[in-house]
Amino acid sequence: TGYVTLDRGYKNTGATKSAITFLDGELGILQYRGYSIEDLAAKASFLEVAYLLIYGELPTQEEFTTFETAIRRHTLVNEDMRKIFDGFPVKAHPMGVLASLVSAMSAFYPDLESGKDDDVDRHIIRLLAKLPTIATWSYKRALGHPINYPKNTLDYIPNFLNMMFSLPVEDYKVDPVVAEALNVLLILHADHEQNCSTSTVRLVGSSQANIYSSISAGISALWGPLHGGANQEVIEMLEDIKADGGDVSKYVEMAKNAKTTGFRLFGFGHRVYKNFDPRAKIIKKAADDVLAKLGVNDPILEIAKGLEEAALHDEYFVSRKLYPNVDFYSGIIYRALGIPTNMFTVMFAIGRLPGWIAQWKEMRETKEPIGRPRQIYTGSTLREFVPLEKR
Ligand code: CMC
Repeated sequence: TGYVTLDRGYKNTGATKSAITFLDGELGILQYRGYSIEDLAAKASFLEVAYLLIYGELPTQEEFTTFETAIRRHTLVNEDMRKIFDGFPVKAHPMGVLASLVSAMSAFYPDLESGKDDDVDRHIIRLLAKLPTIATWSYKRALGHPINYPKNTLDYIPNFLNMMFSLPVEDYKVDPVVAEALNVLLILHADHEQNCSTSTVRLVGSSQANIYSSISAGISALWGPLHGGANQEVIEMLEDIKADGGDVSKYVEMAKNAKTTGFRLFGFGHRVYKNFDPRAKIIKKAADDVLAKLGVNDPILEIAKGLEEAALHDEYFVSRKLYPNVDFYSGIIYRALGIPTNMFTVMFAIGRLPGWIAQWKEMRETKEPIGRPRQIYTGSTLREFVPLEKR
């Protein structure tokens, strides 16, 4: 049936048309719906950006109020979801729990499958509202603390921080520096065109699977260490370097021999950015600012800078155009905000959610056909079946 062009890992294959995110890997440009990432990170709120990605335009004051109010009203999660959650081992990785519970959400809206509940906007609101609530459960449980219910007088990010860090014994006050740092990080992660998790959301959704199942699949794809899971790996790598005496050159050497050592510098390299990652540029500066404002002195930051410096002057990294990516400095900020390492990729998921939703919605609206890649077969040619007793 005609020719199949082989493109392993879809390095050059465009799978869709999209009007959401523009990315120029050579020039290091990233824009959501035509707005530069630098402008949005400096001036917008995460929920404004979510609205922009999902609905195509920045909201008017009235549209924003309606959107935000709806999200505030949906932050509670069905108590029966807690029973599912309680069945997970305490040490379960928060990403596995998150993917499972988002998938489970579809079971709580049974009219979804019968087609009676096709109010897409309401599903979108539910996802945006409940993901942060579910995310904080894993953290609280790991500490052995009771979970916190959402406090809907608070804005989106302060509400999340309150659920994470508030204790019954003392009043938790959201530090505006922390809230603003998180706002910037979430905006920088909000969409990135056809990356692995987004393509997964589209591929699953293209079979007309429901939005919860599609987003759950995206969360699973994001978890991998070559994708969103890299932010956890980066900090673990920097901690290893510190424990090992802080000699960055040793790790640069190991990474140069990635083929034999199997060791890669996490937070380095990108499929599309071959000059610099504009998100990394903003995050590196934010890491300096946030640590200074919070008065945090993290030796890991110095190791990260040393590692970057050493790699950027090394022929191996230069010739392969390997630069720090978004995940290289983000973990340092999360750490300074008090977020534990195994929650970093969950933070990425909260940030990427509007992008996944926007891409899922666009895919439905443009009536994309079911995704179905081809292959080049390399197995055996036709052979005759040999009965079991004769093998
Ligand atoms: N350390 C050492 N060598 C590397 C690295 C690295 N981090 N990244 C790529 N290379 C080498 C690779 O070995 C190959 O070398 P050669 O030309 O000798 O065969 C060359 O650079 C090209 O690499 P590739 O694996 O063919 O490139 P790719 O586009 O398939 O992979 C990547 C992109 C991001 C998966 C990869 O750079 C990587 O594994 N980086 C580390 C993980 C990471 O930081 N991921 C986060 C990506 S950004 C945010 C996100 O998506 O979540």
